[in-house]
Amino acid sequence: MAIQVRRVARALGAVVEGLDLRQELPESDIEQLGKLLVEHQVLFFRDQPVTPQQQARFAARFGTLHIHPIYPVLPELPEIMLIDTHPGFLPDNDNWHTDVTFSTTPPLAGILAAKQLPATGGDTLWSSSSALYESLSEPMKRFLEGLTAQHSVAKSFPAERWANDPATKARYERAVAKHPPVTHPVVRTHPVSGRKGLFVNEGFTTHIHELSPGESQAVLAFLFAQAGRPELTVRWNWKVNDIAFWDNRVTQHYAIADYLPERRTMHRATVNGDKPY
Ligand code: SIN
Repeated sequence: MAIQVRRVARALGAVVEGLDLRQELPESDIEQLGKLLVEHQVLFFRDQPVTPQQQARFAARFGTLHIHPIYPVLPELPEIMLIDTHPGFLPDNDNWHTDVTFSTTPPLAGILAAKQLPATGGDTLWSSSSALYESLSEPMKRFLEGLTAQHSVAKSFPAERWANDPATKARYERAVAKHPPVTHPVVRTHPVSGRKGLFVNEGFTTHIHELSPGESQAVLAFLFAQAGRPELTVRWNWKVNDIAFWDNRVTQHYAIADYLPERRTMHRATVNGDKPY
């Protein structure tokens, strides 16, 4: 069956049909999906009851897989991050963020599978960082060009939450020691499309090096707020066994935490990426 693609929002997002992601796909399908990912920035697939092994195998067709140093992972398959949120383990991804920008080589992509969902709520939004950049005025683009920003793991993973018992404390301290703050350009060029995109996010970006603390705070507050402009986003209303596959180099996402005390369980595979420029 041929792959069918239907765009779902103006800035980003397309539904892809005609593939069974449980199967080992031919290289031609993987190449086509890689191109669609760059074009649409986030791809959605319905009815994909993948096992963790099948999800990891699909993700590994696009690169090596990242193992999260702090967030829970499946013990039997640490390449799959377990986002299992409920009143005993509160969601913390209800802010605009790009995954793992505390790394010198942040991920190329995230692949998220919905396993258990609340009756209502728990949608995820993605925002296009290239559409955001292109929406800025020319003087603002010139101002941002050449600036660099610091990204820190501790901003989204504070010790108060992630190092509060002996087992998590040891893992946390190792992760923080291994991931000192890193610097990335504020405006990033996509390595495949060549499109420029804003590369700061509320989750991990702490300050812009070249500005004074007050200037940095004001500029970042303005830039962080832009990600949520509805016309730059797509919102996905999950069904169990949906998969979202996003280009982490050019998007931010926000998981709406409006479902407690219900439970929401997601599995994420994360594909390693390159150094931003
Ligand atoms: C994530 O923040 O990577 C996961 C988003 C979600 O749970 O919808």
